[in-house]
Amino acid sequence: MSNMKIEIIGAPVLRDVAEDVTEFGEPLEKFAGQMVQTMIDNDGIGLAAPQVGLSKRFLVIGLPVDEDDSARKILAVANPEIIEEGEELVTMEEGCLSIPGISEEVTRPEAIKVRFQDLQGKTVETEFSGLLSRVFQHEYDHLDGVLFVDHLSALKRRLLKKKLSRLSEEA
Ligand code: CO
Repeated sequence: MSNMKIEIIGAPVLRDVAEDVTEFGEPLEKFAGQMVQTMIDNDGIGLAAPQVGLSKRFLVIGLPVDEDDSARKILAVANPEIIEEGEELVTMEEGCLSIPGISEEVTRPEAIKVRFQDLQGKTVETEFSGLLSRVFQHEYDHLDGVLFVDHLSALKRRLLKKKLSRLSEEA
C-alpha cells in the first residue's frame, strides 16, 4: 500500500538541503518499501525522500530489468556521495515526478564513482554508468534541493517559465 503524496515543484521541501539518515534497519526498510511502491505506482524509475515530503538524504531507484517492465532492479541509497565524475558527458532526456508533464535534455557525466549506505547502514562503494548513473545523479540532486530544470540553459528555462509557475501555483 502506498499512500505517499508526491510533492510538486513549488513545495519548499523540494528546495531544502536534506539531512543525513541516522536510523537504519527496520524503520528505514519500511519507509523504502513505501517509496518503491509510490515510485512504481507513478511510473517513475527513481524517487528521493524530499519528493515525498521527508527532508532526508535517502533515495530509491528501480530500473526495469526487461522490456515488458514486469520486474525492477531496486536500489535503496542512504547518505550518498558522488566521489568521482567521469570526464565523458552525455545528454539524455529527463523527467521528474515532481515536475509532471515536462521533459528536457540534460547533460551530465556518463560515469560516476559513488559511496552510500545501504538499508542496514553498511557502506557501499561502487561505480555506475548509463541509465543507473543518470538516475542516481538526478535523485542525488534532489537531496540538495536541486531539480533537473536547474541544469537547463537560461533560454530553455525562460521558455518553460509559464509552465513551471503554473505547476508551482497548483502545488
Ligand atoms: Co526528480
